[in-house]
Amino acid sequence: MTFLPIPLRIETERLILTPPQPCDAEWFTELLNARRADTFTVAEVLERIDVMTKTTETTGIGALVLRKRPDGEALGYTAIVVGRGSLDEPELAYELLRRAHGYGYATEAARALLDAAFDTGRRRIWSTIGSWNAPSLRVAAKLGFRRDHCTTEVVGDVVWMVCDR
Ligand SMILES: CC(C)(COP(=O)(O)OP(=O)(O)OC[C@H]1O[C@@H](n2cnc3c(N)ncnc32)[C@H](O)[C@@H]1OP(=O)(O)O)[C@@H](O)C(=O)NCCC(=O)NCCS
Repeated sequence: MTFLPIPLRIETERLILTPPQPCDAEWFTELLNARRADTFTVAEVLERIDVMTKTTETTGIGALVLRKRPDGEALGYTAIVVGRGSLDEPELAYELLRRAHGYGYATEAARALLDAAFDTGRRRIWSTIGSWNAPSLRVAAKLGFRRDHCTTEVVGDVVWMVCDR
């Protein structure tokens, strides 16, 4: 089965979503270092952005940055990735800078990307979320995901949320 690529520009009421660029490395480093044990340098994140660009070119799925209208301030990213899923049934992900939490931006952006992911021809999208991550579980529920099952991993219990269309 072949799928259309996700669009590389999506507009919502308050946001414009476009792929990460080298100029995003600084805030992306801040975002990645905020909740992970390992720390990344800006140079490493620049390499990651390059890999992300190539992955999107080859697979047709990947990350889009949330850029606030009208000034384009970057708030975080939302992505369709293989993750714990597959190319046919990939995962939806989202992660925002702390200062952007609590305004509905994750829901707004992820909803638009989820719609776009289904428009590629896919019928099922997953989201795997730590059972402790109430805000993320809430976003998934608002988007129409339902709990499928739970796995226990090194990071703790992971809830597999699924959305079918
Ligand atoms: C998860 C995350 C992306 C949410 O971003 P956001 O823009 O604040 O999300 P939204 O504002 O769209 O929605 C958040 C919802 O969670 C709710 N919420 C927030 N904190 C909560 C808590 N402690 N318990 C229960 N619900 C909570 C909010 O009230 C809101 O629901 P509502 O609209 O019904 O009121 C953001 O918290 C984040 O980046 N977290 C760190 C990265 C992460 O965990 N990513 C997901 C990995 S699976």
